[in-house]
Amino acid sequence: MASSDKIVILTGAGISAESGIETFRAEDGLWAQHRVEDVATPEGFARDPELVVNFYNARRAQLADVVPNPAHKALARLEAAHQGEVVVITQNVDDLHERGGMKKVWHMHGELNSALCAACDHRWAAPLVMAPGDACPSCHAPAARPDIVWFGEMPYDMDALFAHLGAADVFAAIGTSGNVYPAAGFVAEARRAGAHTIEFNLERSAVGSQFQEHRTGPAGQTVPAWVDEILGS
Ligand code: OAD
Repeated sequence: MASSDKIVILTGAGISAESGIETFRAEDGLWAQHRVEDVATPEGFARDPELVVNFYNARRAQLADVVPNPAHKALARLEAAHQGEVVVITQNVDDLHERGGMKKVWHMHGELNSALCAACDHRWAAPLVMAPGDACPSCHAPAARPDIVWFGEMPYDMDALFAHLGAADVFAAIGTSGNVYPAAGFVAEARRAGAHTIEFNLERSAVGSQFQEHRTGPAGQTVPAWVDEILGS
């Protein structure tokens, strides 16, 4: 790898697993405990806003009990020390990349610590406990919702993210199962751009065959080792 290479990294729930946040699709994961249709769709929110808001309140509260792990910290080290551009795109709604020291993170699926006005699209720092019908501080409509991209909604910043993928020299996917598009299609986009593609996971993901290189094992070990290689330390 050249020191000027542009590195684009996609992270998923697996990078936060060693911090103690459950993934979605593990046998005992979040989607085994909750129905996606109930807590992660606009229709579910319309049906039972309290259930949905409480689901995300519980997950926001959990952030106080977890800390970034060596994989988050290693990516922050890479961002600070690599000569080329480093772009980190996360599907995660936690704040562990930021608390691990990373300056810029693209949260394509939203953020637990952000609230969104369904009436005017204004965003603000979410209180620890949101309630259905909370007022928007900008337009005052009682239309606050968690700033989470639900199934059926468009992930954030797609134009910018595809532009980064189209210019990537290296693309790495860390701890994501490759089941949810458009993120699962990023590897194909990066390969079209001629990037070298690497998957970090405990196992092959659903799109694992599209990667040229696999680093198998817990991200807390494999990611710091990779960053050391790149930075030559
Ligand atoms: P998943 O739960 O689908 O997948 C987690 C992946 O991480 C799996 O492939 C695991 O093998 C891997 N993994 C688990 N522990 C790991 C570890 N210690 N080191 C490395 N890999 C590990 O989570 P995502 O792929 O992030 O969207 O899910 C994508 C989206 O689906 C989420 O953003 C969420 C969900 O529904 C929304 O809520 C909109």
